[in-house]
Amino acid sequence: MKDDTTIRGLAHSETAHDSAIKHVTGRADYTDDLPEPQGLIHAYLGLSECAHGRITGMDFTDTLAHPGVLGVLTAADLPGVNDVSPNGKHDDPVFAQDHVLFWGQPVFAVVAESRDQARRAAQKAQIEYEALPFALDPIAARDAGHDYVTDPLTLRRGDARAAMATAPRRIKGRFGIGGQDHFYLEGQIAMAVPGEDEDVVINVSTQHPSEVQHMVAHVLDVPSHSVVVNVRRMGGGFGGKETQMNLFACVAAVAAKRWNRAVKIRPDRDDDMIATGKRHDFVVDYEVGFDDDGHILAVDGDWYARCGFSADLSGPVTDRALFHADNAYFYPDVELRSHPLRTHTVSNTAFRGFGGPQGVIVAERMIEEIAYALGRDPYEIRRKNLYRNGQLTPYHQPVEDQILPRIFQELETDCDYHARRQAVLDWNAKAGVIRKGIALTPVKFGISFTATWFNQAGSLIHVYSDGSISLNHGGTEMGQGLNTKVAQIVAEAFQCDISRIKITRTTTEKVPNTSATAASSGSDLNGMAALDAAEQIKARLIDFVAERWQAPRDEVRFIPGHIRAGGQDVPFDEVIAAAYMARIHLSAAGFYKTPKIHWDRATGRGRPFYYFAYGAAVSEVSVDTLTGEYVIDRTDVIHDVGRSLNPAIDKGQIEGAFVQGAGWLTCEELWWDDKGQLRTHAPSTYKIPLASDRPRVFNVKLADWSENAERTIKRSKAVGEPPFMLGISVFEAINMAVASIGDYREPARLDAPATPERVLMAVNRLRG
Ligand code: MTE
Ligand code: MOS
Repeated sequence: MKDDTTIRGLAHSETAHDSAIKHVTGRADYTDDLPEPQGLIHAYLGLSECAHGRITGMDFTDTLAHPGVLGVLTAADLPGVNDVSPNGKHDDPVFAQDHVLFWGQPVFAVVAESRDQARRAAQKAQIEYEALPFALDPIAARDAGHDYVTDPLTLRRGDARAAMATAPRRIKGRFGIGGQDHFYLEGQIAMAVPGEDEDVVINVSTQHPSEVQHMVAHVLDVPSHSVVVNVRRMGGGFGGKETQMNLFACVAAVAAKRWNRAVKIRPDRDDDMIATGKRHDFVVDYEVGFDDDGHILAVDGDWYARCGFSADLSGPVTDRALFHADNAYFYPDVELRSHPLRTHTVSNTAFRGFGGPQGVIVAERMIEEIAYALGRDPYEIRRKNLYRNGQLTPYHQPVEDQILPRIFQELETDCDYHARRQAVLDWNAKAGVIRKGIALTPVKFGISFTATWFNQAGSLIHVYSDGSISLNHGGTEMGQGLNTKVAQIVAEAFQCDISRIKITRTTTEKVPNTSATAASSGSDLNGMAALDAAEQIKARLIDFVAERWQAPRDEVRFIPGHIRAGGQDVPFDEVIAAAYMARIHLSAAGFYKTPKIHWDRATGRGRPFYYFAYGAAVSEVSVDTLTGEYVIDRTDVIHDVGRSLNPAIDKGQIEGAFVQGAGWLTCEELWWDDKGQLRTHAPSTYKIPLASDRPRVFNVKLADWSENAERTIKRSKAVGEPPFMLGISVFEAINMAVASIGDYREPARLDAPATPERVLMAVNRLRG
């Protein structure tokens, strides 16, 4: 603990991620690295091999005869409810009962002495089905008359139909937008350790420890106080561990209580990809009305989502798609409708952006339609339609913090946009095999959970008598640097070095009823809650110091490594030791709830978002028109994080999000066969971007002049998800390169992802 001369780790510094060294040396503990309790056994899931059917028979004779097998768990073996639905709809069973609703649905689990035994024995089960009709994609589901998994939403302002009818120009289109697998490096995993009475402790890789706790309690039929959930860190979550871990934790817990032994469950990558939900794919029917100058006059759209067999988070995800269907543009008259359709596929879930990207990209498609119809640069149409402060979104929240004009200006100058676009046009005019494209696209992303009650957080800080500090909050660390940011905030509050602060694992024993670490709001919420706890302890210390060192209370100051009182600078350690002897309470629980937000879903009005985060990117690509392959030649980004809590971590988030967003729209393709079986369930068939797929030149800048107009923690802004949508610039650039084949007379209208195969087919279509 050294904090006398220089204070490392204060806000606005570039403190490294607290686990950076451990990550790169392999010494960071993930759930699978924890020492295994004596007698640990393993569970493995048995998955359905039928997209929709009635279960007519289950025969486990061969499974039970397999060496090492202790038993099988089915729905009948759960002491409590057979349900891990996160929304009270009771449509998410742990194990399928009577019916299976998608290919890959968990039907049973085998428990054995070793993981290998459990896995092999699971394959020996004989499950029989009576096949029933199924529909895999949202349009097929709609045509088959499937119901919605949750209530649809309509956002409406003005009269879109009337405005469309009188608009000088109108364009209609359909846009297919693919889903995405999370491909977290660490897969789903849980280890349950039984305790006395009803107790169970679960170490698990989840973004939502409190929900795991509550789900396990329901499935075991015990009170929540009997279940402790611990998370040190995840090897990535990206939304895929917001609800999807519940099932694994419940299976481990049930087995642990049944056999009274510690139980671990860890699916193979293939089974992980088959059995867990992904980003929603959508089919969107849009219509845009505009004038001859390119001003948008009316927008009307239907968002059909592949939700899968249950609701899970499809309600808020499809809502968020509509909330972002304007991206950064003002729609004078607008009507947007969501169609959260039930399909016989895995239940889709949260994924970075939470539906937002599937809204934003449609706005960008409509911009392209307008630009090509008028023979203009899409960027010109973008600038023209940007929100001006005071204008209303389709959900009637005014935009009040618009900073995109300045971001556009800086980005345009920094990357020499206009000259480079001209060079691209000139290059393509030579009509060679390699075509180029360039696009500048913005993002405006709403920050807050749209379920208002989730916007709360707690913390617990202990200052020990030696002056070291234990810091706990309800957020979880998944690589995004949340723990580092929260520790910086506490270090600054106490004016001590960050090395004094121990960031402990997240546990339901310390902070109760937490929200998922999601919606990018981890540091907004937990940073504030931690600051609240620190301020409580500081107030007690100030009272104590004022009395002990005979100084007026308002002259007591925390200065680096010391507390200044009555002309004396007393080292922090000494103050703490003396405060302990004087019986000052050195522990505090903090709390925070986001102010100002409210949302009425029935009327489609409110202020669902506390504020917006903004950014923009320019990408230039080269497309090989003989193979459909492409490279990103260069990307320039300016992104708004308000006053950055940690520029190094924020830039890391922006780079990672951009690449993940570009991957979603280029190489990552999910494909189901005609039986409903997902065939892209391993890295051999599902391609995430490689290091070599990143932009050849990649310049990422923070809008370092930006400051959150709202009183967020240190006036920062959330960063986790918004830059994901900057990847859309790559997609738009590829579209331009392809459109050059037809001399830009029409947009390429590629569906996403723009795989080389799709690009090649579009090239051939435009040639033909
Ligand atoms: N960064 C890393 N390295 N790993 C992750 O799993 N998840 C993203 C984002 N950045 C993720 C990440 C998602 S989906 C969200 S919502 C936020 O981080 C959550 O963390 P935050 O709220 O602390 O930003
Ligand atoms: Mo992020 S999709 O909100 O976990």
